[in-house]
Amino acid sequence: MSAPELDMLKEELLDAVARAPDLAALEDVRIAALGKKGRVADLMLLLSDMPPDERRAFGQAANTIKDAVSLAIDAKRAELARALTAEKLAHERADVTLPVREGPLADGRIHPVSQVTDELTEIFADMGFSIAEGPDIETDFNNFTALNIPPEHPARQDHDTFYFAQRPDGERPVLRTHTSPVQIRTMLAEKPPLRIIAPGRVYRCDSDQTHTPMFHQVEGLVIDEETHLGHLKWVLEEFAKAFFEVKQVKMRFRASYFPFTEPSMEVDIGYAKVGDEIRIGEGDEWLEILGCGMVHPNVLKNVGLDPERYQGFAFGLGIDRLAMLKYGMPDLRAFFAGDLRWLKHYGFPPLAIPTLAAGLSL
Ligand code: DAH
Repeated sequence: MSAPELDMLKEELLDAVARAPDLAALEDVRIAALGKKGRVADLMLLLSDMPPDERRAFGQAANTIKDAVSLAIDAKRAELARALTAEKLAHERADVTLPVREGPLADGRIHPVSQVTDELTEIFADMGFSIAEGPDIETDFNNFTALNIPPEHPARQDHDTFYFAQRPDGERPVLRTHTSPVQIRTMLAEKPPLRIIAPGRVYRCDSDQTHTPMFHQVEGLVIDEETHLGHLKWVLEEFAKAFFEVKQVKMRFRASYFPFTEPSMEVDIGYAKVGDEIRIGEGDEWLEILGCGMVHPNVLKNVGLDPERYQGFAFGLGIDRLAMLKYGMPDLRAFFAGDLRWLKHYGFPPLAIPTLAAGLSL
Protein backbone atom coordinates (compact mmCIF):
# COMPACT_ATOMS: atom_id res chain seq x y z
CA MET A 1 0.00 0.00 0.00
CA SER A 2 1.46 3.32 -1.07
CA ALA A 3 1.80 6.48 1.01
CA PRO A 4 -1.03 8.29 -0.88
CA GLU A 5 -3.27 5.25 -0.29
CA LEU A 6 -2.50 5.39 3.42
CA ASP A 7 -3.37 9.09 3.45
CA MET A 8 -6.66 8.35 1.72
CA LEU A 9 -7.51 5.67 4.27
CA LYS A 10 -6.79 8.09 7.09
CA GLU A 11 -9.01 10.79 5.52
CA GLU A 12 -11.79 8.24 4.97
CA LEU A 13 -11.73 7.08 8.60
CA LEU A 14 -11.57 10.63 10.01
CA ASP A 15 -14.45 11.60 7.75
CA ALA A 16 -16.53 8.68 9.05
CA VAL A 17 -15.81 9.80 12.62
CA ALA A 18 -16.81 13.38 11.85
CA ARG A 19 -20.10 12.29 10.27
CA ALA A 20 -21.22 9.91 13.04
CA PRO A 21 -24.63 11.27 14.09
CA ASP A 22 -24.78 9.74 17.56
CA LEU A 23 -22.84 7.68 20.12
CA ALA A 24 -24.03 4.32 18.77
CA ALA A 25 -22.95 5.18 15.21
CA LEU A 26 -19.62 6.42 16.53
CA GLU A 27 -19.08 3.09 18.26
CA ASP A 28 -19.72 1.28 14.95
CA VAL A 29 -17.15 3.53 13.27
CA ARG A 30 -14.65 2.76 16.04
CA ILE A 31 -15.09 -1.00 15.69
CA ALA A 32 -14.80 -0.83 11.88
CA ALA A 33 -11.60 1.25 12.14
CA LEU A 34 -9.80 0.17 15.31
CA GLY A 35 -11.49 -3.14 16.22
CA LYS A 36 -9.76 -6.55 16.12
CA LYS A 37 -10.90 -7.07 12.55
CA GLY A 38 -10.95 -3.39 11.59
CA ARG A 39 -9.17 -1.45 8.90
CA VAL A 40 -6.08 -0.64 10.99
CA ALA A 41 -5.75 -4.31 11.99
CA ASP A 42 -5.86 -5.19 8.27
CA LEU A 43 -2.86 -2.89 7.73
CA MET A 44 -0.92 -4.65 10.48
CA LEU A 45 -1.53 -7.99 8.74
CA LEU A 46 0.28 -6.68 5.64
CA LEU A 47 3.43 -6.12 7.73
CA SER A 48 4.42 -9.79 7.89
CA ASP A 49 4.83 -10.05 4.10
CA MET A 50 7.06 -6.97 3.82
CA PRO A 51 10.81 -6.77 3.63
CA PRO A 52 12.24 -5.43 6.90
CA ASP A 53 13.28 -1.98 5.55
CA GLU A 54 9.72 -1.19 4.34
CA ARG A 55 8.17 -2.72 7.42
CA ARG A 56 9.43 0.02 9.78
CA ALA A 57 8.10 2.98 7.79
CA PHE A 58 4.79 1.23 7.07
CA GLY A 59 4.35 0.28 10.70
CA GLN A 60 4.93 3.87 11.77
CA ALA A 61 2.42 5.17 9.21
CA ALA A 62 -0.19 2.64 10.37
CA ASN A 63 0.33 3.70 13.98
CA THR A 64 -0.03 7.36 13.06
CA ILE A 65 -3.41 6.58 11.47
CA LYS A 66 -4.48 4.61 14.52
CA ASP A 67 -3.53 7.45 16.91
CA ALA A 68 -5.19 10.15 14.80
CA VAL A 69 -8.43 8.18 14.46
CA SER A 70 -8.46 7.28 18.14
CA LEU A 71 -8.00 10.94 19.15
CA ALA A 72 -10.72 12.03 16.76
CA ILE A 73 -13.11 9.43 18.22
CA ASP A 74 -12.48 10.61 21.78
CA ALA A 75 -13.12 14.22 20.82
CA LYS A 76 -16.25 13.31 18.89
CA ARG A 77 -17.55 11.19 21.76
CA ALA A 78 -17.17 14.09 24.20
CA GLU A 79 -18.92 16.42 21.77
CA LEU A 80 -21.88 14.02 21.27
CA ALA A 81 -22.19 13.45 25.05
CA ARG A 82 -22.29 17.20 25.67
CA ALA A 83 -24.98 17.64 23.05
CA LEU A 84 -27.00 14.81 24.56
CA THR A 85 -26.86 16.36 28.05
CA ALA A 86 -27.81 19.77 26.72
CA GLU A 87 -30.79 18.29 24.90
CA LYS A 88 -31.89 16.35 28.01
CA LEU A 89 -31.64 19.44 30.20
CA ALA A 90 -33.69 21.46 27.74
CA HIS A 91 -36.48 18.88 27.89
CA GLU A 92 -36.39 18.17 31.61
CA ARG A 93 -36.28 21.76 32.76
CA ALA A 94 -38.36 22.22 35.96
CA ASP A 95 -39.62 25.54 37.25
CA VAL A 96 -38.92 25.18 40.96
CA THR A 97 -40.72 28.43 41.71
CA LEU A 98 -44.13 26.96 40.78
CA PRO A 99 -46.47 26.36 43.76
CA VAL A 100 -47.30 22.76 44.76
CA ARG A 101 -50.05 21.48 42.50
CA GLU A 102 -53.33 21.23 44.40
CA GLY A 103 -54.45 17.62 44.40
CA PRO A 104 -55.93 14.97 46.67
CA LEU A 105 -52.99 15.54 49.03
CA ALA A 106 -53.97 19.17 49.57
CA ASP A 107 -57.63 18.21 50.10
CA GLY A 108 -56.91 15.89 53.02
CA ARG A 109 -56.86 17.18 56.57
CA ILE A 110 -54.74 16.27 59.60
CA HIS A 111 -56.91 15.42 62.62
CA PRO A 112 -56.50 17.90 65.51
CA VAL A 113 -55.32 15.05 67.79
CA SER A 114 -52.52 14.22 65.33
CA GLN A 115 -51.71 17.91 64.97
CA VAL A 116 -51.53 18.49 68.73
CA THR A 117 -49.45 15.30 69.17
CA ASP A 118 -46.99 16.62 66.57
CA GLU A 119 -46.89 19.98 68.34
CA LEU A 120 -46.20 18.38 71.74
CA THR A 121 -43.53 16.15 70.28
CA GLU A 122 -41.81 19.09 68.67
CA ILE A 123 -41.72 21.04 71.94
CA PHE A 124 -40.46 18.19 74.12
CA ALA A 125 -37.95 17.03 71.49
CA ASP A 126 -36.53 20.55 71.57
CA MET A 127 -36.05 20.16 75.34
CA GLY A 128 -34.08 16.93 74.79
CA PHE A 129 -36.84 14.35 75.33
CA SER A 130 -37.05 11.31 73.07
CA ILE A 131 -40.19 9.42 72.10
CA ALA A 132 -41.07 6.10 73.74
CA GLU A 133 -43.91 3.76 72.85
CA GLY A 134 -45.86 0.88 74.33
CA PRO A 135 -48.73 -1.35 73.18
CA ASP A 136 -52.42 -0.58 73.74
CA ILE A 137 -52.93 -4.04 75.26
CA GLU A 138 -50.93 -4.12 78.48
CA THR A 139 -50.14 -6.50 81.28
CA ASP A 140 -51.77 -5.91 84.64
CA PHE A 141 -48.24 -5.56 86.05
CA ASN A 142 -47.21 -2.68 83.76
CA ASN A 143 -50.55 -0.86 83.91
CA PHE A 144 -51.07 -1.19 87.69
CA THR A 145 -48.83 -3.27 89.94
CA ALA A 146 -45.45 -1.84 88.93
CA LEU A 147 -46.94 1.65 89.23
CA ASN A 148 -47.55 1.01 92.92
CA ILE A 149 -51.22 0.07 92.39
CA PRO A 150 -51.31 -3.46 93.83
CA PRO A 151 -54.38 -5.76 93.52
CA GLU A 152 -57.19 -4.55 95.84
CA HIS A 153 -55.84 -0.97 95.68
CA PRO A 154 -58.85 1.41 95.48
CA ALA A 155 -57.29 3.30 92.54
CA ARG A 156 -58.05 0.28 90.36
CA GLN A 157 -61.76 1.00 90.68
CA ASP A 158 -61.27 4.61 89.52
CA HIS A 159 -59.96 3.51 86.18
CA ASP A 160 -63.05 1.76 84.70
CA THR A 161 -60.74 -0.75 83.09
CA PHE A 162 -61.53 -2.82 80.01
CA TYR A 163 -60.27 -6.30 80.96
CA PHE A 164 -59.60 -9.22 78.63
CA ALA A 165 -60.48 -12.79 79.59
CA GLN A 166 -58.00 -14.42 81.91
CA ARG A 167 -55.38 -16.53 80.12
CA PRO A 168 -54.36 -20.05 81.16
CA ASP A 169 -51.16 -18.68 82.74
CA GLY A 170 -53.27 -16.48 85.04
CA GLU A 171 -52.40 -13.21 83.22
CA ARG A 172 -55.38 -10.97 82.57
CA PRO A 173 -54.44 -8.34 79.95
CA VAL A 174 -56.05 -4.90 79.94
CA LEU A 175 -56.53 -2.09 77.47
CA ARG A 176 -54.12 0.38 79.04
CA THR A 177 -56.01 2.94 81.13
CA HIS A 178 -53.19 5.51 80.91
CA THR A 179 -49.81 5.97 79.22
CA SER A 180 -47.99 5.49 82.55
CA PRO A 181 -47.09 1.82 81.79
CA VAL A 182 -44.66 3.20 79.19
CA GLN A 183 -42.70 4.57 82.18
CA ILE A 184 -42.27 0.99 83.40
CA ARG A 185 -41.34 -0.35 79.96
CA THR A 186 -38.75 2.39 79.50
CA MET A 187 -37.16 1.95 82.92
CA LEU A 188 -36.97 -1.83 82.42
CA ALA A 189 -35.40 -1.49 78.97
CA GLU A 190 -32.99 1.42 79.43
CA LYS A 191 -30.58 2.78 82.01
CA PRO A 192 -30.82 6.31 83.49
CA PRO A 193 -30.42 9.13 82.68
CA LEU A 194 -33.85 8.92 81.01
CA ARG A 195 -35.84 11.68 79.40
CA ILE A 196 -38.85 10.47 77.42
CA ILE A 197 -42.36 11.34 76.42
CA ALA A 198 -44.87 8.70 75.34
CA PRO A 199 -47.95 9.86 73.43
CA GLY A 200 -50.69 7.37 72.64
CA ARG A 201 -54.19 5.97 73.00
CA VAL A 202 -55.72 5.00 76.32
CA TYR A 203 -59.04 3.35 77.19
CA ARG A 204 -61.62 3.63 79.95
CA CYS A 205 -65.17 2.33 80.10
CA ASP A 206 -66.72 5.78 80.24
CA SER A 207 -68.78 7.90 77.84
CA ASP A 208 -70.47 11.30 78.06
CA GLN A 209 -69.95 14.79 76.64
CA THR A 210 -66.41 15.10 77.99
CA HIS A 211 -65.44 11.40 78.12
CA THR A 212 -64.94 8.87 75.33
CA PRO A 213 -63.98 5.21 75.86
CA MET A 214 -60.77 5.86 73.89
CA PHE A 215 -58.78 9.05 74.29
CA HIS A 216 -55.18 10.25 74.16
CA GLN A 217 -52.51 11.03 76.71
CA VAL A 218 -48.87 11.93 76.67
CA GLU A 219 -46.69 10.63 79.46
CA GLY A 220 -43.44 12.29 80.49
CA LEU A 221 -40.63 10.74 82.52
CA VAL A 222 -37.25 12.03 83.65
CA ILE A 223 -34.96 9.86 85.78
CA ASP A 224 -31.41 10.70 86.85
CA GLU A 225 -29.51 11.46 90.05
CA GLU A 226 -30.40 15.10 90.60
CA THR A 227 -33.66 16.10 88.94
CA HIS A 228 -36.02 17.80 91.41
CA LEU A 229 -39.42 19.41 91.58
CA GLY A 230 -38.08 22.77 90.37
CA HIS A 231 -37.11 21.11 87.08
CA LEU A 232 -40.59 19.64 86.76
CA LYS A 233 -42.19 23.06 87.23
CA TRP A 234 -39.86 24.69 84.72
CA VAL A 235 -40.43 22.01 82.07
CA LEU A 236 -44.21 22.25 82.40
CA GLU A 237 -44.24 26.06 82.28
CA GLU A 238 -41.97 26.16 79.24
CA PHE A 239 -44.15 23.55 77.62
CA ALA A 240 -47.37 25.48 78.30
CA LYS A 241 -45.95 28.73 76.91
CA ALA A 242 -44.67 27.06 73.77
CA PHE A 243 -47.83 25.03 73.25
CA PHE A 244 -50.30 27.87 73.70
CA GLU A 245 -47.94 30.22 71.83
CA VAL A 246 -48.08 32.91 74.52
CA LYS A 247 -45.33 34.81 76.38
CA GLN A 248 -46.77 34.21 79.84
CA VAL A 249 -48.95 31.49 81.34
CA LYS A 250 -50.64 31.29 84.70
CA MET A 251 -50.25 27.85 86.26
CA ARG A 252 -51.49 26.52 89.57
CA PHE A 253 -49.90 23.45 91.18
CA ARG A 254 -52.36 21.78 93.58
CA ALA A 255 -51.40 18.98 95.97
CA SER A 256 -53.05 15.75 94.84
CA TYR A 257 -52.67 12.00 95.02
CA PHE A 258 -51.40 9.43 92.53
CA PRO A 259 -50.06 6.06 93.68
CA PHE A 260 -46.99 6.33 91.42
CA THR A 261 -45.75 9.78 92.53
CA GLU A 262 -44.85 11.38 95.86
CA PRO A 263 -45.48 14.24 96.22
CA SER A 264 -48.24 14.41 93.58
CA MET A 265 -49.78 17.46 92.00
CA GLU A 266 -52.50 18.46 89.61
CA VAL A 267 -51.84 21.44 87.41
CA ASP A 268 -54.43 23.99 86.35
CA ILE A 269 -53.96 26.57 83.66
CA GLY A 270 -55.42 30.08 83.96
CA TYR A 271 -57.64 31.46 81.21
CA ALA A 272 -60.26 34.06 80.44
CA LYS A 273 -63.43 33.47 78.46
CA VAL A 274 -64.14 36.35 76.10
CA GLY A 275 -67.40 35.60 74.29
CA ASP A 276 -66.84 32.16 72.77
CA GLU A 277 -63.10 32.56 72.78
CA ILE A 278 -60.73 31.16 75.38
CA ARG A 279 -57.64 33.26 76.14
CA ILE A 280 -54.77 31.46 77.81
CA GLY A 281 -52.57 33.53 80.12
CA GLU A 282 -55.27 36.03 81.09
CA GLY A 283 -58.24 36.10 83.46
CA ASP A 284 -59.00 34.03 86.53
CA GLU A 285 -60.73 30.87 85.41
CA TRP A 286 -58.82 27.60 85.93
CA LEU A 287 -58.80 24.38 83.97
CA GLU A 288 -57.03 21.21 85.00
CA ILE A 289 -54.69 19.94 82.29
CA LEU A 290 -52.37 17.39 83.85
CA GLY A 291 -51.20 15.26 86.76
CA CYS A 292 -47.58 15.02 87.84
CA GLY A 293 -45.16 14.43 90.67
CA MET A 294 -41.84 12.96 91.76
CA VAL A 295 -41.58 9.28 90.87
CA HIS A 296 -42.50 7.15 93.92
CA PRO A 297 -39.60 5.16 95.45
CA ASN A 298 -41.71 1.99 95.20
CA VAL A 299 -41.97 2.44 91.40
CA LEU A 300 -38.19 2.74 91.16
CA LYS A 301 -37.80 -0.42 93.28
CA ASN A 302 -40.31 -2.27 91.10
CA VAL A 303 -38.08 -1.75 88.04
CA GLY A 304 -34.84 -2.52 89.89
CA LEU A 305 -33.60 1.06 90.34
CA ASP A 306 -32.12 2.14 93.69
CA PRO A 307 -34.30 4.98 95.09
CA GLU A 308 -31.36 6.11 97.23
CA ARG A 309 -29.47 6.91 94.06
CA TYR A 310 -32.07 7.70 91.40
CA GLN A 311 -34.97 10.13 91.36
CA GLY A 312 -37.02 12.06 88.85
CA PHE A 313 -40.42 13.29 87.83
CA ALA A 314 -43.34 12.10 85.75
CA PHE A 315 -46.39 13.73 84.28
CA GLY A 316 -49.48 12.71 82.35
CA LEU A 317 -51.41 15.05 80.13
CA GLY A 318 -54.69 14.71 78.22
CA ILE A 319 -54.03 15.41 74.54
CA ASP A 320 -57.68 15.69 73.49
CA ARG A 321 -58.35 18.18 76.25
CA LEU A 322 -55.37 20.30 75.22
CA ALA A 323 -56.64 20.25 71.64
CA MET A 324 -60.13 21.36 72.74
CA LEU A 325 -58.65 24.19 74.73
CA LYS A 326 -56.19 25.45 72.12
CA TYR A 327 -58.45 25.19 69.10
CA GLY A 328 -61.83 25.92 70.73
CA MET A 329 -63.56 22.62 70.01
CA PRO A 330 -66.38 22.20 72.52
CA ASP A 331 -67.50 18.57 72.05
CA LEU A 332 -65.06 15.71 72.62
CA ARG A 333 -67.32 13.12 71.01
CA ALA A 334 -67.07 14.88 67.64
CA PHE A 335 -63.34 14.04 67.67
CA PHE A 336 -64.13 10.39 66.99
CA ALA A 337 -67.39 10.56 65.04
CA GLY A 338 -65.60 10.55 61.69
CA ASP A 339 -67.73 13.39 60.27
CA LEU A 340 -65.88 14.82 57.25
CA ARG A 341 -67.52 18.24 57.68
CA TRP A 342 -66.05 18.47 61.17
CA LEU A 343 -62.62 17.39 59.93
CA LYS A 344 -62.69 19.92 57.09
CA HIS A 345 -63.51 22.65 59.59
CA TYR A 346 -61.12 21.78 62.43
CA GLY A 347 -58.45 19.80 60.56
CA PHE A 348 -55.03 21.07 59.47
CA PRO A 349 -53.48 21.25 55.99
CA PRO A 350 -51.21 18.23 55.51
CA LEU A 351 -48.19 20.19 54.33
CA ALA A 352 -48.18 22.67 57.22
CA ILE A 353 -45.96 20.59 59.51
CA PRO A 354 -45.59 22.14 62.98
CA THR A 355 -42.08 23.30 63.83
CA LEU A 356 -40.82 25.67 66.51
CA ALA A 357 -38.94 27.67 63.91
CA ALA A 358 -41.86 28.17 61.52
CA GLY A 359 -44.64 28.27 64.15
CA LEU A 360 -46.62 25.39 65.62
CA SER A 361 -50.09 26.16 64.34
CA LEU A 362 -49.57 28.43 61.33
N1 DAH B 1 -51.72 8.31 84.77
C1 DAH B 1 -52.52 9.40 85.33
C2 DAH B 1 -53.94 9.31 84.79
O1 DAH B 1 -54.16 8.76 83.77
C3 DAH B 1 -51.93 10.73 84.95
C4 DAH B 1 -50.64 10.96 85.61
C5 DAH B 1 -50.57 11.61 86.83
C6 DAH B 1 -49.45 10.55 85.03
C7 DAH B 1 -49.39 11.83 87.48
C8 DAH B 1 -48.24 10.76 85.68
C9 DAH B 1 -48.22 11.40 86.90
O2 DAH B 1 -47.08 10.38 85.14
O3 DAH B 1 -47.05 11.63 87.51
O4 DAH B 1 -54.83 9.82 85.41
